Amino acid sequence: MDPALAAPTSNGPPASPAAIPPAGAASPAAIPPAELDVELDRAMTEHYVEGRRGMRSLVSTSLLVALAAGVALLPAWPPARRVLGVELKTTLPLAAVSALSIVHAAIAFGRVGGRGRWYRVAEHVESLCSVSCGVALVYLSGSAASVFWIYFLLFIADSWNNPRDVGIHMGLFGLASAALAGAFGARGALTDVAIAGSIGVLGAVCIYAFASSARHRLRGEAERRILRARLEGLLVERERDRIARDLHDGVAADLSTLLWRATELKAAVAAAGNGEATSIVDELVSDARSSLDELRAIVFALRVSGGTWDDLRAELRTRVARLCAGSLRCEIAFHDDADAAEVPVDVRVHVVRIVQEGVRNAARHARAQVVRVELERGADDVVVRVADDGEGMPEGALEASRGGLANIAKRAELLGGAASWTYDGGTRLVVTLPLRAPR
Ligand SMILES: Nc1ncnc2c1ncn2[C@@H]1O[C@H](COP(=O)(O)OP(=O)(O)OP(=O)(O)O)[C@@H](O)[C@H]1O
Ligand SMILES: [Mg+2]
Repeated sequence: MDPALAAPTSNGPPASPAAIPPAGAASPAAIPPAELDVELDRAMTEHYVEGRRGMRSLVSTSLLVALAAGVALLPAWPPARRVLGVELKTTLPLAAVSALSIVHAAIAFGRVGGRGRWYRVAEHVESLCSVSCGVALVYLSGSAASVFWIYFLLFIADSWNNPRDVGIHMGLFGLASAALAGAFGARGALTDVAIAGSIGVLGAVCIYAFASSARHRLRGEAERRILRARLEGLLVERERDRIARDLHDGVAADLSTLLWRATELKAAVAAAGNGEATSIVDELVSDARSSLDELRAIVFALRVSGGTWDDLRAELRTRVARLCAGSLRCEIAFHDDADAAEVPVDVRVHVVRIVQEGVRNAARHARAQVVRVELERGADDVVVRVADDGEGMPEGALEASRGGLANIAKRAELLGGAASWTYDGGTRLVVTLPLRAPR
């Protein structure tokens, strides 16, 4: 127990306020690779979806279709036909297939968004169509030095928006150039083999360079995001620490002295044989002691922050055991593995407070025999359950609450989660808290 907050004895004043042990603040150490990977993956997905939003707009889709139509119609102009080496009857169907795949991808994006399965499939179909049309047109033009390589330009440009799919892009580009080199080689056109091979290598290098650069940039953004979140956590932590210290060294120390004096006064009044005054001072001592206890609980609650999942488990066990004195039996279960990873500061504080309030309510209001606390940690969120076998909450208790229940709901809302209470042979509180702060 903290000496400054300990009840005084009649032998003398309480010890001077001792330093509060340092809070388990989130350390600003290096970012764990796994955390960075998750954040990087998220940044790449967001960047990809944002990029697609522009590319799949009505204007961009129309421009892409117009480009396909323009390429298809080029042979209608005799001088262009001579340079391109293909007829309108070849370009038209191929460009139509390509344009249809572009429109299909735009419709899929509009319906299911950039993360939808339909869209992902539509995008791969579109890539295959572009590559096949490009390969066919370059080959049918009779020379590897063909303007129809333009079909492959999109892959290179896209690597900037979508560094995740660098493997697919390089694979498709490599396959297309290899197929062309092979086809020209079968004809004995060695110059074309060399051109197709060179363009293939050049294109693959460009895709890789673009994707690496984009990945590097997004990695930097992800790092900054993590560090900003940590910094915010540390600032909150420091402020909480300051409040706890002020309460401890100021109000708690004064209250402690008051209690000591009241205890002395009680002894003096008792010695004087004044029974009525003794009982009044006795009440005063007891009130001062419970106020000090409450203040001590607040100071220690303020210091609940930082720490690992293992610390949180230990913390919950201690607090729940403390609340479950008497006939109330408490069970606590954790549905996750032991883990030395750090808990986001906010999540830890809210989980502790929610469990405390849930159990305290069960102990105070439910007339329950058993309270069961469960903590289940998923990849993206943590679920807290507090269930009792008591008589259930009165109708409208949540709406009327200005205290514990309202605070639980508010805590869930602050973290972007949700809280619900149901009656299931007792009150069953379920709170889901995301492990990432809402943006
Ligand atoms: N587990 C429970 N079982 C039965 N009734 C409950 C339970 N939890 C809450 N209640 C009812 O809901 C009411 C509101 O609860 P709430 O926690 O908001 O306030 P409180 O516990 O009365 O006071 P405090 O502000 O100190 O928490 C309680 O007064 C009680 O009637
Ligand atoms: Mg309450």
